[in-house]
Amino acid sequence: MGAEMTDRSRNMADLLHIFDKLGFDALPEALIANLESDKENLLKAIRNDIGNCKRCKLHTGRTNIVFGEGDPNTRLMFVGEGPGADEDATGRPFVGRAGKVLESLINKMGFRREDVYIANIVKCRPPGNREPEEDEIAACRGFIERQIESIAPDAIMTLGNVSTKTLLSTDKTIGQMRGDFYDYNGIKVMPTYHPSYFLRNPSKKVFTWNDAIKVLNYLGIEVISIKRKD
Ligand code: URA
Repeated sequence: MGAEMTDRSRNMADLLHIFDKLGFDALPEALIANLESDKENLLKAIRNDIGNCKRCKLHTGRTNIVFGEGDPNTRLMFVGEGPGADEDATGRPFVGRAGKVLESLINKMGFRREDVYIANIVKCRPPGNREPEEDEIAACRGFIERQIESIAPDAIMTLGNVSTKTLLSTDKTIGQMRGDFYDYNGIKVMPTYHPSYFLRNPSKKVFTWNDAIKVLNYLGIEVISIKRKD
């Protein structure tokens, strides 16, 4: 994945450099439109490659593959762990109780859910909502890596231990990692707590809000401080 990503980023950088030399302030709209539909098509191709996946044992218990959803041209991605019961039933990421918490964070950041892209490390529900195992992550991680490469967001918030450890190749815990930026193939990654953690510890939401503020600052988006109950 590394080499592919590097090539793609290098092509983009070369393109921007050439247009800059030609005296353009920005890429022509036609080219932008092309790049945008390109991202949608790349994601469709990844979903197509997943197919009716049987690459790991999780396929035996699943109802739906939960690929991910949102704006392919977003600047911000959220990456969770794996589908729970509601996600398995609907085929959509983060639609259960933890999803409501995530959506309220997204809204508080000034976005609608459909403005960002939400996906998971594994695409099928682990039984009893246990953490995905190493072999399951190994079988699936290529897909989230390709989703990230295709979307090429400016920032990613990893939600909890599994996505943080997988994308950042670390053994450190989310408690040790959260609140600082890390690099993933040139993309800024901000690890933060998994939304389900707040179902048990609502008072800890402030930590994730502080992490989110850092992401908004990095994206150059003004933080509008709204007083909310949550
Ligand atoms: N938890 C996750 O990590 N992902 C989901 O999609 C839902 C709950």
